[in-house]
Amino acid sequence: MEQEPNRVFSGIQPTADSIHLGNYHGAVQGMMALQETHACIYAVVDYHAITAPFDPALMPHRVLNIAVDYLAAGLDPERTILMVQSDVPEHVELAWLLGAQMPVPKFEQLPTYKDKRARYGSASFGLLAYAILMAADILIYKATTVPVGKDQLPHIEFTREVARCFNNAFGQTFPEPQAFQTAGTVVPSLQGPGAMAKSVPGSYITLTDPPEVIRQRLARAYTDPARMRRTDPGEPTRCNIYTIHQLYTPSKQLEEIAGGCRSASIGCLECKRILAHEIIVHLSPIQERHRALLADLDYVRYVLADGAHRARPLAQATLAEVKEKMGLTRSRTSEVHQA
Ligand code: TRP
Repeated sequence: MEQEPNRVFSGIQPTADSIHLGNYHGAVQGMMALQETHACIYAVVDYHAITAPFDPALMPHRVLNIAVDYLAAGLDPERTILMVQSDVPEHVELAWLLGAQMPVPKFEQLPTYKDKRARYGSASFGLLAYAILMAADILIYKATTVPVGKDQLPHIEFTREVARCFNNAFGQTFPEPQAFQTAGTVVPSLQGPGAMAKSVPGSYITLTDPPEVIRQRLARAYTDPARMRRTDPGEPTRCNIYTIHQLYTPSKQLEEIAGGCRSASIGCLECKRILAHEIIVHLSPIQERHRALLADLDYVRYVLADGAHRARPLAQATLAEVKEKMGLTRSRTSEVHQA
């Protein structure tokens, strides 16, 4: 495959019905911005989602919903390829070829692997192999730019090692991809210290939460612990809610809120009510598009089929090149040599 100088690849796992605001600000907004200048391929990575416990009955619905999230967030299917990972099985074949070259400790050292193994008490082979499938996702398109959240940086570093290792052994084939981060945005959790995370119930707001759910989740959210009573002054820079305000609320109002918090002239509930309003207004056009797309799933299925159709020849070209370099094709010259 000829290398596109500006190829972008990224993926989202269908492990929930909809992405949360952490994913949206941490990665998806960056993905959408890159469409203007780069040839982008964005995937719903279902083969990654089966490395943790999952419900087969929910999977088809989740895959479609994540595709709808992408489209509602601004993915332009004319320009960008939107695909489901399992529709292009060459990813898995490349993962095998690349994985066979990598030492096991490299996999065991990945923080994502260590965390999940600790969380589930044990680990499947798929969980250990997670990073090589992700490397194959990226390298099969010779992508140079990978928009991801901060938690994925070790996987990008691993992908660069895989590329180097293959290039050294079999000749220059893969560029070393770079992570692309949207101003490093981390959206704080509603539950306590740390970031919004799918694995922490109640810590997040999703792109499709209806207004009453957004209000409810915020009403219960954790704030500056110094504000025990309504009359206690707070410190906005210590408050997760204020950090989220900075993403949504116009700066003039933001100053009033910070001042009101410090002087205890506004309470946390009022502050959350304003934030709920801003988030609802911001999400409303996305939710509007989401509803329209859900009402036309045939269109979404068409976009995914078209995406797979466009991605597959690119993936096949890289796979053929890799097999050739590894001596796994029997071309005429090698037959002559054998004779
Ligand atoms: N591991 C990523 C996540 O959990 C998802 C993913 C799979 C991905 N393959 C990828 C992201 C390739 C970027 C590129 O968020």
